[in-house]
Amino acid sequence: MIQKLKGTKDILPEEIKKWQFIEYIAKDTFEKYGYEEIRVPVIEKTELFKRGVGEDTDVVQKEMYIFDDKGGRSIALRPEGTAGVVRSYIENGMSSKPSPIKFWYSMPMYRYENVQKGRQREFHQIGVELLGSGSYLADVEMIEMVNLFLNKLNIKDVELKINSIGCGNCRKKYLEALKDFIRPNLNEYCEVCKSRFEKNPMRIIDCKEEKCKKLNLNAPKTIDFLCEECKTHFEKIKEMLDKLKIKYVVDTGIVRGLDYYTKTVFEFVSKEDGLTVLGGGRYDELVEELGGEKTPAIGFATGVERLIDVFDKNNPDFDNSNKLKLFVAYIGEEANLYVTKLVSDLRKKGIYVEKDIMDRSLNAQFKYANKKNAEYVITIGEQEINTGKVELKEMNTGNVKTINIEDIEKSIF
Ligand code: HAM
Repeated sequence: MIQKLKGTKDILPEEIKKWQFIEYIAKDTFEKYGYEEIRVPVIEKTELFKRGVGEDTDVVQKEMYIFDDKGGRSIALRPEGTAGVVRSYIENGMSSKPSPIKFWYSMPMYRYENVQKGRQREFHQIGVELLGSGSYLADVEMIEMVNLFLNKLNIKDVELKINSIGCGNCRKKYLEALKDFIRPNLNEYCEVCKSRFEKNPMRIIDCKEEKCKKLNLNAPKTIDFLCEECKTHFEKIKEMLDKLKIKYVVDTGIVRGLDYYTKTVFEFVSKEDGLTVLGGGRYDELVEELGGEKTPAIGFATGVERLIDVFDKNNPDFDNSNKLKLFVAYIGEEANLYVTKLVSDLRKKGIYVEKDIMDRSLNAQFKYANKKNAEYVITIGEQEINTGKVELKEMNTGNVKTINIEDIEKSIF
């Protein structure tokens, strides 16, 4: 038997209600803040992610699925959504529309990761991107929207962590200080960190190797190197979050693993296992980097599989089943055809109703209805067709009442 690839998962019918519910809550919540759905290709030019996400990031250096197509172009399966959405924004001239532009998406992503809890090679993200506002209130509105989204999903076991990594200007001073800190011990860092020291020392800060993590313990913090503008931006966000009574902790260790971030970065982290359920931040320089006009922007994405893990813990009674409202059993071939027409009419009215299409005996039809947990069952034979009356059985209570066939809809709601 051919098995699925490592790091991929089948999402089976038993689980799909949960996925649909989460996507529905996302769509419903985000649309009320003015977000519109966007869908961008799974495949993009590799160059897009090298320039967008950053050549020295783990995502680009180690985790991208890359191949040459038959025309010799280097193609990547998208490892994240932001770069593709920004490319689409620029390519489709969307900067001419009224700002800010707000997109949301629900899309599969691909990263060749070491597979473990919360780390798959195909996973799904629900995310948003807001382009055109540099105001601190855009950051606040986004965090507040995430908070509402998680509240609507009854997700409580997560903690909001925020930090500021500053703009290009404050970054220069910070990187010098960081290099001065790392330099004396550079030889003790892993090979990847060593190779990143000159070009992108910030990536050394989020290296996952234990020995590098230890060496980084007292590294300088971005927050101590913020310029006046970035400092004020961050202070105002905190003040407003306090006013909105949104709980957060400032975690100066959050730098995020992608190169495009500036100023505010934030994560919602699972209290149980410390996994980041949702992450995002500002990326005021990305649009320009990808060939558009300078445009401030901010966004986030949640990994749906990780979100579902916490959702399950917080919603143990979530009902995954598709409730069968009515099962219509038949006796004899004439009734079989009659019932086919009847269920067709009921389905047009939007009722979930089933009949047998397996040539089962009457007894076997009842057994099937039981297994499917039908709420109501009726049985139609020659007599019912002639009189236009049926016995409607409510399976939960066992109550039976006689009704007119044309009143079925009325009687089951
Ligand atoms: P990210 O932090 O790389 O950010 O990914 C966002 C979320 O996707 C993570 O918090 C996690 O829940 C989930 N995730 C990431 N990798 C995996 C994996 N291998 N398996 C399962 N889940 C995973 C981004 O991708 C940014 N594009 C977010 C963003 C949007 N920032 C601004 N706009």
